[in-house]
Amino acid sequence: MTARELLQQVAIDRGDAEGLLANALKVDRAWLFAHGDEPVDDTCARHFMEQATARAEGEPLAYLLGYRDFWSLRLSVNRDVLIPRRETEHLVEWAIERIDAGAQRVLDLGTGSGAIALACKSERPRVKMCAVDGSQEALSCARANGESLGLEVDWLYSNWFDTVPPGCWDLVVSNPPYIAANDAHLSQGDLPAEPALALIGGDTGLESIEHIVGQAPDFLLPRGWLLLEHGFDQAEAVARLLRTKGFTNVSTRQDWSGQARMTGGQWLS
Ligand SMILES: C[S@@+](CC[C@H](N)C(=O)[O-])C[C@H]1O[C@@H](n2cnc3c(N)ncnc32)[C@H](O)[C@@H]1O
Repeated sequence: MTARELLQQVAIDRGDAEGLLANALKVDRAWLFAHGDEPVDDTCARHFMEQATARAEGEPLAYLLGYRDFWSLRLSVNRDVLIPRRETEHLVEWAIERIDAGAQRVLDLGTGSGAIALACKSERPRVKMCAVDGSQEALSCARANGESLGLEVDWLYSNWFDTVPPGCWDLVVSNPPYIAANDAHLSQGDLPAEPALALIGGDTGLESIEHIVGQAPDFLLPRGWLLLEHGFDQAEAVARLLRTKGFTNVSTRQDWSGQARMTGGQWLS
């Protein structure tokens, strides 16, 4: 069968099908248009058909391809890690602003594939970056991404701050789990395939954020910053948590779609 015929056979989004076929053939998508009438060998064709079936049954494209592009990096991903989201690139922008303002020791809490830590490190190589996760499997994925990209990060297995050195961080940045356990979104899109540990922030959705805000002052240097990604409807609650804890200069930023998506504050004393 030719590439064009294979693409016509499958009942999935055309862009996804092209991505899967190009990946199976180890070519780029442009190749498919130039060589669409050439026969595809049986092994590749079978692999493509199996992957297209999995995609039709809901397997996320990124897990089938084995990667997701984030910032300027191609990150390997698997079912042990959250698929990095475009919204999180705005959190990276904010973190880089703080690094440019003088932050030298940066902690990424709940690193998953390593997305935030590696994006910051790739842009500002002199920063001292440590990244934590409570999943050994996620840390293995993050560490492998760091090695293949040649980016040096200290990877630490820890339940949030439990094994993190206190009192020495200029910046703590985190995209923690923030979906409520009974939220209907958990059964939609890619979410059913992603790790529950990466998604669910307790019954209210805010439990991980509450924990991080509560602990962060013991770990930040004076004038250090805490930046948090959160759900589109959680900005007020997160800002309140930060102010109540004693953070100053609390502000919220929007993502590319105009949703209030991240809130941060400074610890002065
Ligand atoms: C929403 S994902 C974010 C992953 C990555 N930072 C990103 O933005 O793509 C949250 C991450 O927090 C980790 N996590 C959840 N509970 C944790 C805990 N108690 N301690 C440390 N990490 C935790 C999960 O394993 C997951 O990798």
